[in-house]
Amino acid sequence: MPRTEETESIGARLDARLASIRSKGLARCLREPEGIDLSSNDYLGLASHPLVKERMRAAIEEYGCGATGSRLLRGERRCFSEIERRFAAFKGAEAALYFSSGYLANLAVLSTFLEEDDIVLFDRLNHASLIDGMKLGGAKKVIYRHCDIEDVRRCLDRYGKDRQTFLVTESLFSMDGDAAPLAEYAALCDSTGAALIVDEAHAVGAYGATGSGMLEALNLCSKTFLSINSAGKALGVSGAFVTGSAQAIEYLLQRGRSFIFSTAPPPSVAAAIDAALDVLAKEPERIVELHRLSGYLRGLLRQNGFEVEEAGSQVVPIILGGTVRAVNVATTLQGAGFDVRAIRPPTVPEGTSRLRISVNTKLTHEILDRFAETLVRAVKEHGA
Ligand SMILES: Cc1ncc(COP(=O)(O)O)c(C=O)c1O
Repeated sequence: MPRTEETESIGARLDARLASIRSKGLARCLREPEGIDLSSNDYLGLASHPLVKERMRAAIEEYGCGATGSRLLRGERRCFSEIERRFAAFKGAEAALYFSSGYLANLAVLSTFLEEDDIVLFDRLNHASLIDGMKLGGAKKVIYRHCDIEDVRRCLDRYGKDRQTFLVTESLFSMDGDAAPLAEYAALCDSTGAALIVDEAHAVGAYGATGSGMLEALNLCSKTFLSINSAGKALGVSGAFVTGSAQAIEYLLQRGRSFIFSTAPPPSVAAAIDAALDVLAKEPERIVELHRLSGYLRGLLRQNGFEVEEAGSQVVPIILGGTVRAVNVATTLQGAGFDVRAIRPPTVPEGTSRLRISVNTKLTHEILDRFAETLVRAVKEHGA
């Protein structure tokens, strides 16, 4: 096929872009899971639970594979509205709306509710899906320092006086494993009329008496305007629920573009999530075990000189600095049978490339001991 001027120029541009990505050590590749899982978000091991698999299979028999349309057209199924009712009750909210992914849920929430004259206060380390949603929303953007209550207070004083203000944060931060000061944020929002939006992606299934997240653990469900809850992490399936008042969820259904203009998820995922919630309700000890193992790993890392918080979540960052070093350490660990991935910019800020270790309930003390020993050797081998 003869080349046109356009194809040559787009080809040359992409060559230059890709060369630049490679030269910075930022090239990514697709790699199937191999070795001991220290990097997935399947914190409770539910993705392969027999009951979850069985109920998903049965639902395929009942409903077929695809939903065949948007839920607002021919894609609606009873199992979606049933799981939404169950999830809303689980979160202590009036209503829920299920999206095909957390990414799409965040796009819908922020593009729907943030209007032109509003202000959005936004944590500097919020997830890319929240950033993209914020960009689609109309509000004036104010980025505050990570988890900094005083900075939030200052921003509310300065910007939030007479305009509708939203405070957007993750509850458990995906790449740092630390928790937002939600109780303080909720009190500030209460006293100023700001609306609190909390992404619970990594807290659902891992925190709270029934495992619904940090909002439950801190008794803040009623103080939150909306929460976004991925079902693709600790619940082991996929998609995400936005929960909140019946009014807000009704508005999201009317206006959320990534909900309206997209084929509904396969109905079988609703059945799988229902089964995952059954397992969580019957076996709350999974959450206890998750935190016991996380505490054990954190202790081991601290004994070996790594700067990690003693008390913390199942997400344990090991910050290594440069991209090349992070990739080299990860490669050595992979060679020793541990599935650990290097996390680099733009996922994390420049100079903070890291291993993001995520603990899951299939691990044991013995595996974690071996991992820590191998990590110490790998870090020494690849220098500062
Ligand atoms: C904090 C946070 N929010 C949202 C998402 C997106 O959720 P999903 O994977 O369900 O699209 C992620 C995924 O990594 C996340 O870490």
